[in-house]
Amino acid sequence: MDLNVAVLGATGAVGMELLSLLEGGALPVAGLRCFASERSAGTSVPFRGGTVPVENAERADFAGIDVAFFSAGAERSRRYGPRAAAAGAVVIDNSSAFRMDPDVPLVVPEINAEALAGHRGIVANPNCTTIVALMAVAPLHREAGARSLRVASYQAASGAGARAMAELKEQTSAILAGRPAKAAVFPSPLAFNVIPHIGHFLPDGSTEEERKLRDESRKILSLPGLSVSAICVRVPVLRSHCVACWLGTERPLSAARAREVLAAAEGVKVVDDPGALAYPMPVLATGEGPVIVGRIRVDEADGAGVSFFVAGDQLLKGAALNAVQIAEALLARGLFPRPAGPEHGRGSSGGH
Ligand SMILES: NC(=O)c1ccc[n+]([C@@H]2O[C@H](COP(=O)([O-])OP(=O)(O)OC[C@H]3O[C@@H](n4cnc5c(N)ncnc54)[C@H](OP(=O)(O)O)[C@@H]3O)[C@@H](O)[C@H]2O)c1
Repeated sequence: MDLNVAVLGATGAVGMELLSLLEGGALPVAGLRCFASERSAGTSVPFRGGTVPVENAERADFAGIDVAFFSAGAERSRRYGPRAAAAGAVVIDNSSAFRMDPDVPLVVPEINAEALAGHRGIVANPNCTTIVALMAVAPLHREAGARSLRVASYQAASGAGARAMAELKEQTSAILAGRPAKAAVFPSPLAFNVIPHIGHFLPDGSTEEERKLRDESRKILSLPGLSVSAICVRVPVLRSHCVACWLGTERPLSAARAREVLAAAEGVKVVDDPGALAYPMPVLATGEGPVIVGRIRVDEADGAGVSFFVAGDQLLKGAALNAVQIAEALLARGLFPRPAGPEHGRGSSGGH
């Protein structure tokens, strides 16, 4: 089945990655429509040797769209998502708007594609750091049972969008030229610095990003009681997030077996040869689909467990690629067009 595809947020960091995956033949695209804010309306984006006009999302009519990729922020997803779903599209949403809605599947296809069955028009793409970490955690959980998860993240500037990447470059040039670095997107200058602050602070002292990592991990792994604790940190890297993980397991797991399990896992590449200076780093993960895992060793600080380091391109597996894989999984399961039943934007589940 060829698909009529819409991309909302087509001019952004994630939107541009989506377009390049579609251009590379990721899905059978019959037609493409691109949407962004009124700032970009009237411009165009290159696609397959031609151009596609960028339309103002405010005036969007989603009739005839089979799949709509949303990456324009949670507010826009809440505003336009139910509208697109009511028009018959399946919305694959990169924002946090619907992730914890019990009626919305939150899916990493290699981990929980079965959650797609019975979707009601909106499928959520998880938080990028959560995806990168869980790509390694989930296979180890299947092998030895996850009991607790502690993580420290090292998140790239592009996780905050296209303007954030530009800001890091500008700050770096300014400091190298002896000028003061100005911060507008980040809470403080990021160049030559690290910032332990991603998303707003919550009353318990954690940040939104740390809360997402906990809540979304529990939902994706179907482990509502999993003990998860996170410290999320922005680092002056342009692209690809890293996550240090300490996974407590129900059953003992040797480093050799953990390496074997990860090497066999879909979407995971093991790079773990410290003697040869081979370990995961953002420069290795950038532009790659699979996440890279290394520094794998037994960690018995809290009973049985393993620790490891993961690097993943958060614009690809953490966002655009995972979204495209969700569409592919829907297609493979015959879930286009949508199954009959209540829909977001119509009937009882409206009001998101
Ligand atoms: N960056 C990542 O690594 C990452 C990973 C996972 C999920 N996400 C999520 O994906 C979404 C997009 O992130 P991004 O990094 O691509 O951000 P970005 O580079 O800042 O791009 C934002 C996009 O949204 C559009 N937009 C902004 N305001 C709009 C409005 N009022 N109406 C319609 N479109 C509007 C922008 O269009 P204009 O060009 O017209 O302003 C642009 O296309 C966010 O929800 C983010 O949380 C991002």
